[in-house]
Amino acid sequence: MTNQTRTRRLGAAAVALMAAGAAGINAAQASPQDGTARYGHGAAGSGDPYFPYAGNGGYDVLHYDLDLRYAPPSDPAVLAGKLAGEATITLRATQDLNSLNFDLRGLNVTAVDVDGKDVNRGSGPSEWTQVQDDANRIWELTVGLRTKLKAGQEATITVDYGGATGRPEDTTGALYGWVTTADGAMVVNEPDGAPTWFPVNDDPEDKATYSFHITVPEGKTAVANGLSEGEPKTNAGWTTWTWEAADPMASYLATASVGDYTLTYAKGPHGLPIINAVDDGVAGADLAKTTAALALQPRMITFLSDLFGRYPFEAFGAIVDDDSVDYALETQTRPVYSGAADEATVVHELGHQWFGNDVSPADLKDIWLNEGWATYIEWLWAEHTGQATVAQQFTDTVAELDSKNLWGMNIADPGRDNLFAAEVYNRGAAALHALRAKVGTRRSLPEPGIGWNATATPRQQPQTLNR
Ligand code: TRP
Ligand code: ZN
Repeated sequence: MTNQTRTRRLGAAAVALMAAGAAGINAAQASPQDGTARYGHGAAGSGDPYFPYAGNGGYDVLHYDLDLRYAPPSDPAVLAGKLAGEATITLRATQDLNSLNFDLRGLNVTAVDVDGKDVNRGSGPSEWTQVQDDANRIWELTVGLRTKLKAGQEATITVDYGGATGRPEDTTGALYGWVTTADGAMVVNEPDGAPTWFPVNDDPEDKATYSFHITVPEGKTAVANGLSEGEPKTNAGWTTWTWEAADPMASYLATASVGDYTLTYAKGPHGLPIINAVDDGVAGADLAKTTAALALQPRMITFLSDLFGRYPFEAFGAIVDDDSVDYALETQTRPVYSGAADEATVVHELGHQWFGNDVSPADLKDIWLNEGWATYIEWLWAEHTGQATVAQQFTDTVAELDSKNLWGMNIADPGRDNLFAAEVYNRGAAALHALRAKVGTRRSLPEPGIGWNATATPRQQPQTLNR
């Protein structure tokens, strides 16, 4: 949930969307001719320089209630599923509004209502319309409000939608979003993949709570964030799984993965519920590695709590799919792993619960900030468990960065397609160690304010560590 409206949300993105021919954001709505001059349109973007159409302006989502029905591929050789959803979004206007936008990609809206009243399809001021412009990565649902919203007022908007699911890709070509798999779906949204499965204010600053009701063919398991609510209910061959995520969460951290998972329940420190979902297809060495790594979660939580303060959320756990997107993600309270979970990755994704998820970037552009912390936490855990000292890992990392000449990037503004580059992880971790141990990293010492000095610091040997 945001507690601030930033006026920069109302600028270039809305203008560009108008230029792109998006219906519903026409001059009439912004002009005084309907007698509501002071009511405006909530912007179609949140001002992020890397992802100008992600997020929207003019409101703050309080809660998403997502009712999803999903049929996995009928032929595992053709990775297409069917998704039908009803999203009930409770929001509060942060400015006077006569229309607002959600981000929704590749799915067709069939009905919208606002506070229980139907909104008709069309491009008039109190109708809804969709823009799907893949070339320009503009995927917007505009909802006209028959009854205008005043700043501070709440509204509940219900969107019915659905369509075929595929294998969406981020701007670098990595799989993300609702990734259809042979036996279900692996759902990992970072950075801007949430709109591939629900209408959303896809701005990490607008955290909200979530309820998930996921209906899947009997025998399949659906796992989302937070805690399960009651037993799954089966009716006519379909089972509904309900999950509640009570800790406010950025949309890129939501998941609702579906597969042939077996759930296990364990307790962490202070009775923290740990819920692990491991795909029945994870076997052999992958299963052995996964089981060993997940068994360490309680010890890892204790270790990180001692360093950084109480674990920030109501639950933890894992979703380990036998399919792969080629990376893991720190989905809030329940990270998702590709093929197997290993020890270093588990402590990395756990570390993100403090750094990235609880303490979190306001813009997708700043998501690089998360990775140095999570990598440094891998180093700390390795030292704690006697695998390698932090000092050694620092020295090795600096040597590797040197040998590959990886000091040139400005990692505080790495560019949209370098948010997850190795430099971001390793230089971030090295800089954190340098701060803590007061050693030079040759070129990566922090400058005042945000930013790493990529060019100016003269080369020098790291000093002896004093910790
Ligand atoms: N957040 C992931 C991590 O834990 C990184 C990530 C997200 C990623 N999307 C990606 C890595 C795409 C590679 C490709 O580090
Ligand atoms: Zn990470």
